[in-house]
Amino acid sequence: MAVIMDGKGLASKIRSSLAEKVNKLSRKGIRPGLAVVLAGNDPASAIYVKNKKADCAECGIESFEYLLPDGTPQGELTSLIAELNANGKIHGILVQLPLPRGLNEAEVIASIDPCKDVDAFHAENVGLICQGTPRFLPCTPAGVMALLDEYKIDPAGKHCVVVGRSNIVGKPQALLLLHRHGTVSICHSRTPGLGSITRQADILVAAAGKAGLITGEMIKPGAIAIDVAMNRNEQGTLCGDMVFDEIEPIAAYITPVPGGVGPMTRAMLMQNTLTAAESTMNGRPVRLCGTSPDVVQGSTRRRY
Ligand code: GUN
Repeated sequence: MAVIMDGKGLASKIRSSLAEKVNKLSRKGIRPGLAVVLAGNDPASAIYVKNKKADCAECGIESFEYLLPDGTPQGELTSLIAELNANGKIHGILVQLPLPRGLNEAEVIASIDPCKDVDAFHAENVGLICQGTPRFLPCTPAGVMALLDEYKIDPAGKHCVVVGRSNIVGKPQALLLLHRHGTVSICHSRTPGLGSITRQADILVAAAGKAGLITGEMIKPGAIAIDVAMNRNEQGTLCGDMVFDEIEPIAAYITPVPGGVGPMTRAMLMQNTLTAAESTMNGRPVRLCGTSPDVVQGSTRRRY
């Protein structure tokens, strides 16, 4: 019987702690502000954006919402981002992905001021993460690390297997585990014999976006099973990549879906927005960055 890792509860504790810090900063005249841009009408994205707004309200962060209809031209979106980059009340900018067909994701990400890029998707921020000196920690991987820390699980020396190689989760997750001295393997859709590798995992992070991909027989007894994915199964219910009922009796720890990593991702976004606001002076982002070598030395910044 595995311990169920309570991401929802931990995220709530983090938001309370952030609310105090946001309040302190606001009393000094800097109220953190997050702009959320949603282009198109993807229903799942609309729910994520609504949840992010609610998190902002709970933390005392001012949220600014920009809803762009399907068919919005690229130039209109990048002009909006240029305005947000210049707006001193906005410390963080998040463009909800995936973008509708016709919009160029790479160009949009590149147009965000790296100092306001609270998703940590901009090449400059990805480079800083890679070097172990992040300005912002990537939200989902940072949420996973915070959850591991909460349950006193140290990746050092453990075989950490990440299934999925996306820019949002798989790649940065592998880096954060590596920086905490894990021995990291990355698997993906072209990995033959996936089970033979996942069975070696002390910490298994599934982020492939494929319901039912990880079954009980792919788990080492006593492993830590972290399910990052958010899929809908044939019945339309939310589920991850892991077959929870098969894995839960075998693993030592497991995250539920929903209520595991998802709320942690959003809590890390709030943390990044506060970090961005804290590093402003005179309403302008301070361009100092990359000041956290301790990520390499052993511990991520536990600032929440
Ligand atoms: N779509 C799915 N996850 C994310 C995320 O973390 N950030 C953004 N901007 N879009 C997403």
